Amino acid sequence: MTQKKRALTGIRATGQLHLGNYLGAIREALRLQQEYECLYFIADLHSLTTNRNPEALREQSLDIAASWIAFGLDTDHHLLYRQSDLPQVTELAWYLSCVTGMGYLQKAHSYKDAVAQEKEVNHGVFSYPVLMAADILLYEPDLVPVGKDQKQHVEMSRNMAGSFNAAYGKEVLKIPEPKINEEVMTIPGLDGRKMSKSYDNTIPLFAPEKVMRKKVMSLTTDSTPLEAPKELDGSGVGDLFVHFASAEEYRDLKDRLAAGGLGWGHAKDELFQAIIRELQEPAKRYRELRGDEEQLRAVLRSGGERAHAIGQKVLAEVRTTVGIPAHPFS
Ligand code: ADP
Ligand code: TRP
Repeated sequence: MTQKKRALTGIRATGQLHLGNYLGAIREALRLQQEYECLYFIADLHSLTTNRNPEALREQSLDIAASWIAFGLDTDHHLLYRQSDLPQVTELAWYLSCVTGMGYLQKAHSYKDAVAQEKEVNHGVFSYPVLMAADILLYEPDLVPVGKDQKQHVEMSRNMAGSFNAAYGKEVLKIPEPKINEEVMTIPGLDGRKMSKSYDNTIPLFAPEKVMRKKVMSLTTDSTPLEAPKELDGSGVGDLFVHFASAEEYRDLKDRLAAGGLGWGHAKDELFQAIIRELQEPAKRYRELRGDEEQLRAVLRSGGERAHAIGQKVLAEVRTTVGIPAHPFS
């Protein structure tokens, strides 16, 4: 049997997951399960650049684990693990740091944004792409599915692998491909900007239906009068509806809006129904899974152990390459 190709991605444990995370990252990553061996993890070390609340970090890590499974990650055949359970990743990050220029890291969007927004720029923020490169390169994936905003980071990881290989004159680290779903691109939030926890404009994935409905109804729309014709394409409602409705349903709503006499409120209600249709079952599973932490921890342990076996091999080769014994004390 030929070895399946490998896909890997991580989601930071911060706040509640939202529709942008689902459409931009989770839904696409899960579609790869047929074709790839998937390694999906909770990037809790990455959360520490901003998180100062240990209890919240623990809870949010389990929230993300439960979300992956609720949306259908088959953990018998794929790996779900917690980044921090495999400290080899921080060790690999160090070796990568030593072949990565300061000037290069200054170009990272994550760093530039933190500076521009006058957020705390700690060293973790600055070296964020190095840790992310280690997350990727340690497990030799073929493909890294991410939202568009993470594309640069995946490209940086390719360059770091190239720099390491060039520095030692050996093809040690495998160079992965990013996979960006161009159709999804950036999902807009309630106010029209990118949906993001940082902007407080999200529609959370597993909120009670009442809350979800209220959020959807608060989507910003123009104030075209009820009887006037309206354009669904490019509107906040349309940009979300397109991901939850069939092509026919989309066209139908588009035509009715264009004919006039249908208000945005009504269109938002149809959007809400389409979202619920897709999220209702996963939300139910999520609540069941979240209620059994022992089981969740067992899944993470098993995924972590399998990931460890892969990472050990790569790390031993990296260590030997740089002139450190393959294993400590050997
Ligand atoms: P946030 O911006 O809310 O902090 P994260 O940075 O934690 O979200 O994103 C986790 C994953 O979800 C990433 O792969 C990211 O590309 C994707 N993602 C987040 N927001 C969006 C969005 N609005 N549209 C598309 N993808 C998104
Ligand atoms: N940086 C990613 C984000 O903010 C999360 C992440 C960490 C990641 N390590 C990764 C994604 C490795 C893909 C591969 O969303």
